[in-house]
Amino acid sequence: MTDPTSLEGRRVLVTGGAQGLGEIIAARVIDLGGTVVIADVQDDVGELTAERLGAAASFEHLDVSSADDWAGVMDRVTDRLGGLDALVNNAAILHMGPLEEMDPERARLLLEINLLGPLLGTRAVTPVLRDAGGGAIVNIASIGGLEGMNSTAAYNASKWGLRGLTRASALELGRDGVRVNAVCPGMGNPDMPTPFLEQFDLDRYLLTAPRLPFFVGGQPRNVDAHDVAEMVVWLLSDAARGCTGADFAVDAGWTAGTFAEGLPGF
Ligand SMILES: NC(=O)c1ccc[n+]([C@@H]2O[C@H](COP(=O)([O-])OP(=O)(O)OC[C@H]3O[C@@H](n4cnc5c(N)ncnc54)[C@H](O)[C@@H]3O)[C@@H](O)[C@H]2O)c1
Repeated sequence: MTDPTSLEGRRVLVTGGAQGLGEIIAARVIDLGGTVVIADVQDDVGELTAERLGAAASFEHLDVSSADDWAGVMDRVTDRLGGLDALVNNAAILHMGPLEEMDPERARLLLEINLLGPLLGTRAVTPVLRDAGGGAIVNIASIGGLEGMNSTAAYNASKWGLRGLTRASALELGRDGVRVNAVCPGMGNPDMPTPFLEQFDLDRYLLTAPRLPFFVGGQPRNVDAHDVAEMVVWLLSDAARGCTGADFAVDAGWTAGTFAEGLPGF
């Protein structure tokens, strides 16, 4: 019997795959038998990552906010690989700061990359996935798409919007055999030490945020990029054939609710 979690022969495009979570997802897809196209604006880093990942990986330049870039990448990838079976909309940026002081151009750029980007990507891959007889799309949202936080208004808006895009596209693309889901990672993880985390003092944040469920097994538990990648590859695989239009938090319980001191069971 074929292992339903296998990605043998699957051709997967990962946006923002040059580094961070995208790179770890790409590596895991390859472990499971798939082929990966890393698509990113960082050409040198992306080329090196693809080289490191070996023959099953290749790199394409892509600015996710450009419809023309998406069209070019789709042409080249379908020529080279004969089609595509899955897309991971992972590329995103984060700007932190008070809402009142937010530069409109920076907010626009963030929304163009984090929300318009996945929309354009979904639009561009739809005919290709249909030609392949179906496929899967995973949108990387965030716990910032399940709740709000001071200083991240534009990011929160983009990630909540991405969950809306996930639901709408799951409904529209279901008849073509395409499943669309969102993964909502928690934060604070040593292998996503990206510009994301450089922008704030994580230890202080974890200590002051009123969320004890983040402590799993009595230990502070940061979510690991590998935990997130496992969920992504599972959703890409046939094992997840019953899942579409849904959100999957990988946040060690962060968004489960409040574990209140002073109440029975604390
Ligand atoms: N790091 C975290 O703690 C965390 C937590 C929750 C969710 N996330 C989400 O995980 C995803 C990956 O985050 P990460 O931490 O690996 O970030 P990262 O900054 O390390 O990687 C993002 C990648 O996206 C690329 N990128 C940026 N703009 C692009 C564009 N216009 N077109 C194509 N590529 C572009 C960058 O070059 C980079 O390679 C993001 O969607 C992010 O919102 C991250």
